[in-house]
Amino acid sequence: MTEKEVLEFIMRRRSVRKFTGEPVPKEKLEVLLKAAMAAPSARNRQPWEFLVLTEREKIREVCTAHPYAKFGVDAGAVIIPLGKPAGNFYFFQDMAAAVENLLLAAANLGLGATWCGMDEKRQDAIHPLLGVPQDYWIFAVIPVGVPAEHPEPRTQYDPAKVHWQRFGQHL
Ligand SMILES: Cc1cc2nc3c(=O)[nH]c(=O)nc-3n(C[C@H](O)[C@H](O)[C@H](O)COP(=O)(O)O)c2cc1C
Repeated sequence: MTEKEVLEFIMRRRSVRKFTGEPVPKEKLEVLLKAAMAAPSARNRQPWEFLVLTEREKIREVCTAHPYAKFGVDAGAVIIPLGKPAGNFYFFQDMAAAVENLLLAAANLGLGATWCGMDEKRQDAIHPLLGVPQDYWIFAVIPVGVPAEHPEPRTQYDPAKVHWQRFGQHL
């Protein structure tokens, strides 16, 4: 890949919040899960598991239980990365790496997706809907679908955020 192609691959990922309502083929969902599980994790503990929703009613229930994921009701699927954080300092970092891999794969398969973050209150709302055990932390809710909007690829590169050799020194 050229330098341009590498950046294009990465920048193709944007948050997509409008979907056609079409289903997402299981084969594509499996590619997303393979991409997620290719992520690095501390001591290679791979703390992730994934709950995949493709049934319309479940998708609706979960997306409407999250204050900022309501747009996901038209998604063809929802992927929910989750795992047990207890005793694993790196849990959240590992989970984030997996989610970013998944989002990059989705965008490059022509799918739209958005990472919707979770807090305590959202845990309590979504756990019972899906029968998730109490010792699991739902890391994110990710609506995935055929995109009905196409945000422009872009880097948000800002040289002021890059320090060369010592803090405060910019090119
Ligand atoms: C931890 C995290 C939580 C987020 N939560 C939400 C959310 O609840 N709802 C939403 O619509 N977008 C959410 N986003 C997406 C951000 O709004 C989005 O990434 C940001 O505006 C940059 O736009 P881009 O993803 O198109 O580059 C979240 C992103 C991250 C990384």
